[in-house]
Amino acid sequence: MGIENDFELTKLYDTKYVLNVFNPLPIAFTKGSGVWLTGTDGRKYMDMIGGIAVNSLGHGNKELTKAISDQASKLIHCCNYYLIPQKSELAFRLCSNSFADKVFFCNSGAEANEAAIKIARSYFYYQGHPEKNEIITANMSFHGRTMATIAATGQEKFRTPFEPSVPGFKYVDFNDFEALETSVDDKTCAVMLELIQGESGVHPADKVYVKKVRDLCYRRGILLIIDEVQTGVGRTGRLFCYENYEIKPDIMTLAKGLAGGVPIGAMLCTNEVATGMKPGDHGSTFGGNPLACAAANCVLDQITSADKGILANVNAVSSYLFEKLNELSVKTGKIKQVRGMGLLIGIEFDDSIQAAGMKQLLMQDGFLVSSIGASTIRIAPPLIITQREAAMFITELGKILKGKRK
Ligand SMILES: Cc1ncc(COP(=O)(O)O)c(C=O)c1O
Repeated sequence: MGIENDFELTKLYDTKYVLNVFNPLPIAFTKGSGVWLTGTDGRKYMDMIGGIAVNSLGHGNKELTKAISDQASKLIHCCNYYLIPQKSELAFRLCSNSFADKVFFCNSGAEANEAAIKIARSYFYYQGHPEKNEIITANMSFHGRTMATIAATGQEKFRTPFEPSVPGFKYVDFNDFEALETSVDDKTCAVMLELIQGESGVHPADKVYVKKVRDLCYRRGILLIIDEVQTGVGRTGRLFCYENYEIKPDIMTLAKGLAGGVPIGAMLCTNEVATGMKPGDHGSTFGGNPLACAAANCVLDQITSADKGILANVNAVSSYLFEKLNELSVKTGKIKQVRGMGLLIGIEFDDSIQAAGMKQLLMQDGFLVSSIGASTIRIAPPLIITQREAAMFITELGKILKGKRK
């Protein structure tokens, strides 16, 4: 018998048996529809964080549910010893809609970045330059929790307890082109960047900076890895965020929203970069399995459908949210900055407001957001959120900021 409807037992078992790395809020959810989640307390919550940018099509999307259940009833898993039609189709879809020629599938963002790090090094190894193995990343970046991806992450706190760290990474300030340019040397194989640093407070890269980095990589013969684990698959109003920057990476990583909630990761690269992996060099038991790929095919089908207008919706609701949040900033004087792109938005408050406290108040009033650091909350709602729903969030935030909360 499951404990799905027993909240107290869930809490007890979590405290007693689950490794204490998340410190979850005292609530669980039983079902969802669109941007709404139903809590075990029977209340409805607007999911303005979307499973951290994962539930791209919202909860209970009928086509996605059907694609998953149809595939589950036929075949959930069969390993990469054999051809997998759903995987071939997904690779075709991703390549047809991006700069990429080849895809490697895995199960998470960190794994996608592991693949990117490995291929950036092995590409030069097979070119006869094993000494070119250093990757330059940005301070305050976030690339995952595995040993190589914490080494890639430009934040010491994620590495210190797990030292010794994987060698071969250098960190420079984000959006500082000179610092990056002077760090490149004969050992550099790649630059790895997020176009919007999501986990450290939603900080977008400057457009001129990104173009200069792209040119630098071409000039110095090094690879540009763009981590789109959080920004990819429609989140910023284009299918991939790099399109907003008018550049093409050599390697890109995806995960989060790609299969709408089913675990998946993908590393995409050009044919040139793909020469850096030979059969047996890399792999994954679950990566590219029929279930995850069927889900991702369905997600991409919907997001790229002009009839569904999901990308147009992201852009329209995003403009609305930025306008209203900036209005709230002027009216209340309590919002310091509104940052981001599409439906990945950071709201930074002044010193009078604690982000964690704001998250709590919003949750008590039925709105789920995440807090980052002392002063910023992040929203990353499903891409299908309507303007009317976004307006409900703005009204609530306004009430709290103006001290008119009941
Ligand atoms: C930019 C970026 N890269 C990598 C990751 C790691 O992804 P995962 O948690 O799926 O391993 C994240 C997760 O937040 C992320 O935001």
